[in-house]
Amino acid sequence: MEQLRTVAATRYVTPLREGGSLPGLVEADDLGMYVLKFRGAGQGPKALVAEAIVGELARRLGFRVPDIVLVDLDPTLAKNEPDQEVQELLAKSGGVNLGLDYLPGAFDFNPVVRDPGPELASRLLWLDALVLNVDRSWRNPNLLLWHRDVWLIDHGAALYFHHGWSPTWKPAATYRFTAEDHVMLPAAGPITPLDVPADMITEVLTLVPDSWLAADGTPPTEARDRYTRYFAARLANAPQWTEALEAARAARV
Ligand SMILES: Nc1ncnc2c1ncn2[C@@H]1O[C@H](COP(=O)(O)OP(=O)(O)O)[C@@H](O)[C@H]1O
Ligand SMILES: [Mg+2]
Repeated sequence: MEQLRTVAATRYVTPLREGGSLPGLVEADDLGMYVLKFRGAGQGPKALVAEAIVGELARRLGFRVPDIVLVDLDPTLAKNEPDQEVQELLAKSGGVNLGLDYLPGAFDFNPVVRDPGPELASRLLWLDALVLNVDRSWRNPNLLLWHRDVWLIDHGAALYFHHGWSPTWKPAATYRFTAEDHVMLPAAGPITPLDVPADMITEVLTLVPDSWLAADGTPPTEARDRYTRYFAARLANAPQWTEALEAARAARV
C-alpha cells in the first residue's frame, strides 16, 4: 500500500516566522530541505493530521501541493539551538513530524497581481469548503507562486471539528464555513462540486500515522472512521453548501 516517505531530520536551519505555528526549515538525511510542522507545536498533532489529509486529498484532486513526508526528529537536535522557543519546540517534538518539500524562491501568491483563472479559483474555493479550511483569506492566502504555478500550503487549521471530539461524536448536519474572506472568491467562476470518490478518502486516511491519530486517546481505527463519516456526510450535503457558495460568489460579481 502507498505510504508517505520517511526521512530523518539532520539539521535545523531556521524558523519560518509567519503564522503562529512556528514551522522550521530542516535538512534531512536524503539531503532534501523540508518545511517542518512540529507535532509539539501549540495546535498539536491534529494540525499535522489535517495537513496530511487535506494536502494529499488536494493533490489527488489535481492541485499542486509540495511533497509531504514524515520526518523523524531526534529531540537532541535541540541542543545546538540558541533560540529558547525553538529549543523547546524541538525538545517536545521527538518522533514523527510532518515535512513539506521546501520550494526555494517561492513567492506568496497574490491573486491581484496574478489572475489565477476562474477554474482554479472556483475549484479551490470548493475544496476549502469541503474540508472547512478557514486559512485561505486574502489576508493570509497560504498559497505560493513557484515556477509560475500556484501551490497550496498550510492546511493545519482545516477539519476543525476534530478538536472537539467526544466519544459520541457524529458528523453535524451543517458546518460553519464563510466564503466572504476567501482569497479566491473575487476570481472564481461558477462553482460546481468536484468528484471525490470514497476510495480516495480511504486512501488518504491510510497515509496518516497512527501516532498522530491516537494522540488524544482515540483509537486510530475509530479516528479514521470519524473522518470517513465526516466526508461522507459533507459530500452528501454538497448540493446545499455548493449552492450557498455559488450564491456568495454570484453576489460578489
Ligand atoms: N513548502 C514551502 N516552500 C517554501 N516556503 C514555504 C513552504 N511552506 C511554507 N513556506 C513559508 O513559510 C510560511 C509559514 O508556513 P505555513 O505553512 O503557512 O505555516 P504557519 O502559517 O502556520 O506559520 C509560509 O507563509 C511560506 O512563506
Ligand atoms: Mg500560513
